[in-house]
Amino acid sequence: MLAALLLAAVAAPQEFNYDEAKVPDYTLPPVLAEADAPEDWPQRRAEIVKLFEQHVYGVTPPAPESIAFETSSETVQWEGWPEVEWRDVTIAYETPSGPFSQGVTVVLPAGASAEKPAPVFTLIRYTPRSRPPISKDEPERDYCPWGPIAAAGCAVAVVYVDDVAPDDKERFDSKLLKAYGLDRETLGERPADGCGALAAWGWGASRFLDYCEQAEDLDAERVAILGHSRAGKAAWWAGARDPRFSVVISNNSGCGGAALSRRRFGETVAKINDSFPHWFCPRFRTYDNNEDALPVDQHMLAAAMAPRAVYAGSASEDGWADPRGEFLSLVEANPAFALCGDPRLAPEDMPEPGGVVTKGRRGYHLRPGGHSLKKYDWERYLQFATEQWKNAAD
Ligand code: GCU
Repeated sequence: MLAALLLAAVAAPQEFNYDEAKVPDYTLPPVLAEADAPEDWPQRRAEIVKLFEQHVYGVTPPAPESIAFETSSETVQWEGWPEVEWRDVTIAYETPSGPFSQGVTVVLPAGASAEKPAPVFTLIRYTPRSRPPISKDEPERDYCPWGPIAAAGCAVAVVYVDDVAPDDKERFDSKLLKAYGLDRETLGERPADGCGALAAWGWGASRFLDYCEQAEDLDAERVAILGHSRAGKAAWWAGARDPRFSVVISNNSGCGGAALSRRRFGETVAKINDSFPHWFCPRFRTYDNNEDALPVDQHMLAAAMAPRAVYAGSASEDGWADPRGEFLSLVEANPAFALCGDPRLAPEDMPEPGGVVTKGRRGYHLRPGGHSLKKYDWERYLQFATEQWKNAAD
């Protein structure tokens, strides 16, 4: 009984707002500012990315000047599943303090070749590495169903957060950030725009895209990025920064991800900064209980994907991540997508649990149930991304 009560308290802390009627009035910063024509958008987009860098996620290291890849592969056939290739890629580059490497596991469909390169789903994953690297069991929290993905002719790659920035407030800067002299030991104190863990994870995902660009059997024009929860926040930010990701998806990413901070529904800026100070840049703390002072809100992150495709997956019982706030970010990104010729989304378009809405380059679904990445979510992501890739090719 006590355990059940404690669990309930963890899942839905009571001091936070879960009542739509208590969402305060708010005014969002404008998406377009002075921009009013498609040709103005690249510059406005760059300004938006810079604002998020300075106020929310922090400045990442520059892309390495040279990068090398080593691979080892095995063919795997599990009963009832398509034959696939498991490829371990070691990505190595020079940093100011010497060589650094990270590993990515890719599962390719049989038959991927230079003539038929496979589109790729890049999953930022925060569960520890395991062998087999990618489980086929749904109960896992950031589950990765490589069988159905391969059956759809796509590859899936797993970027492990621990390789670049351990998800730990004491150790997050002990790897990549240390290699670049951006760790607390070297700097003494984190600067206001110091790189946080979410940005470092996305930076690592971009190094995998560097690999896709030279791997003949992967289609670098059709690479999606996604993640669940904290990794969903990282995926949206990685997609905003790196326009080579053509489809950008977050699953239940909530505060600091797809959800509008000004709604203060479920998790708040003050709470996330208290619990996970290493995820963001130190300046983000100045917006604790002060969301209206933020020069951005998360609708601008969705907008930064335009004219590429962006998707948010929510879960109906995941109040902590504010499913409606996740949907409204997509809605409020209207000006950027309208500029690119897409239809508008309206607040009334929000689906009931079990529903999906896709308009132009934006998609959303509300899975019945709680906080998790499920087969249901993946099916929708596969469908959305393949449709987007097809539309882009037509
Ligand atoms: C916590 C955190 C969320 C985060 C989640 C997760 O619940 O408050 O912001 O999304 O962990 O990553 O699982």
